[in-house]
Amino acid sequence: MTESRVNQGLFPASDEVLSSLGFRPLEQRYYLCGGEILPWSGAQQSVYSAIYRTQPQPERIRLGSVPQLSATEALQVLDAALKSWDLGRGDWATMRTRDRIAAVQHFLKLFSLQKEKIVTLLMLEIGKNRSESESEFERTEQYIADTIEALKEIDRDAGKIELHQGIYAQIRRGPLGVVLCMAPYNYPLNESFATLLPAIIMGNSVVFKPAKHGVLLLEPLLKAFQEAFPPGVINFLYGEGKEVVKALMESGKVDVLAFIGSSKTAAEIKKIHPRPHRLRSVLGLDAKNPAIVMPDADMDIVLNECLNGTLAFNGQRCTALKILFVHRSVVDAFLARFVRLVEQLKAGMPWEDGVTITPLPEPDKPTFLASLIEDAQTKGARVLNEGGGSRHLSLVCPTVLYPVSPSMRIYHEEQFGPIVPIVPFDDVEEPIQYITESNYGQQVSVFSRDPDLIASLIDPMVNQLCRVNINTKCQRGPDVYPFNGRKDSAEGTLSVSDALRVFSIRTMVATRDTPLNREIFNRILEDRKSNFLSDQFYL
Ligand code: G3H
Repeated sequence: MTESRVNQGLFPASDEVLSSLGFRPLEQRYYLCGGEILPWSGAQQSVYSAIYRTQPQPERIRLGSVPQLSATEALQVLDAALKSWDLGRGDWATMRTRDRIAAVQHFLKLFSLQKEKIVTLLMLEIGKNRSESESEFERTEQYIADTIEALKEIDRDAGKIELHQGIYAQIRRGPLGVVLCMAPYNYPLNESFATLLPAIIMGNSVVFKPAKHGVLLLEPLLKAFQEAFPPGVINFLYGEGKEVVKALMESGKVDVLAFIGSSKTAAEIKKIHPRPHRLRSVLGLDAKNPAIVMPDADMDIVLNECLNGTLAFNGQRCTALKILFVHRSVVDAFLARFVRLVEQLKAGMPWEDGVTITPLPEPDKPTFLASLIEDAQTKGARVLNEGGGSRHLSLVCPTVLYPVSPSMRIYHEEQFGPIVPIVPFDDVEEPIQYITESNYGQQVSVFSRDPDLIASLIDPMVNQLCRVNINTKCQRGPDVYPFNGRKDSAEGTLSVSDALRVFSIRTMVATRDTPLNREIFNRILEDRKSNFLSDQFYL
């Protein structure tokens, strides 16, 4: 193998890099609970960067710390949420939609002020490059604004009184109770808001546990949350999941679990709830999205979409293309150009211009990826690109593996990192069978120019997966589209409007059509006596 493209020289020598980015280590000795930013003098959990400094010896840069809360504080945080919910009688839960929207609009203004700090922390904590960090922030702003508009639409539709078979009714969506939101490290901002924001705006009270990597970046928002929302509507939980999440779930008082991470962890958390039938779950889990490249595909499109689809943010996207099936008749032509493109990707620090390959935040990830590569090599795959298979500290060089076959771990296991396994095929039934037998059921990308062929592939795949992308990489966005999965890939559907539905339930007020009941309804509506039974809506 030629000299590694990931090397010590790419890392900063010292912590001084932090001040050049306008960042000072942040010791967060407080947490937001019940509307108060409570001081904390107990144990702290250190937060380390994805990035190493090399002098005097290589070490991950320490960025600060957050409280290491225990089961006692977890229950205190839960109590704050329960008090706010107040068995469905809390101010926030019963508030008119327009007032909740006003609070979120206020929050959005405060949120936007924190862009610079949050983008810097995204780069430092999880190693996401500057442009992807900025786009994560902007996407989140857009998500909040779109959620407000989607709720206004739901509110407009709910503003009417229906009459069927002599029964008047008004049907609205009401909150579910206390929601535990847990975020993943790869989108620690966007995917936090993808669940906590719809949960809040629908009137629930939230306990929010930030991701382990990507936790300090929420600190600049604590005051904004405190200012915009009534006490207890949003509460922060830090600490070891095994202790604090266990305490919450054991209580049986969590009504909704919103979790984005592995199916194994989700199953463990759900099992702890003493009355599982009471727990609703909204889960974004594992995936191993394949691409299928047919012989007639436009190779320029294939290369562009597959490069981006496999290696954006070092392949750490649940929607990343994690295995490429390329028809044997075009595989050599594909490999020659794909490998060159991979070799041109620039490795470096996330704040540097034009950088794609950046340090990984999970300390064990480089070793895990190396074990997948080694396993494939011992079973006959070759590393095709220069530097492939090499790593230095937290930088892992993208690795193109070919030919990959079912006996290898990388064929089945989700890598969530910069390995691109490529499988040659002769008959399209081979990738279809792969999808059918897979434990995952999120998305696929199909590359071809032939409408007949594409149509013949769509039908067998739409009932195995939830999105078939034509000549386009797999992705979650635009966020207004449904994002979900089958099998081990998801439970429930997220999107701007679907999320408002999953964090709420339809509740109605009904009455038989009699003069007395009509008079009661009219009085309540005309005098605006109820926030729920109301013909008012928010334009
Ligand atoms: O990690 C999973 C993300 O939801 C994927 O979002 O497809 O927009 O990168 P994305």
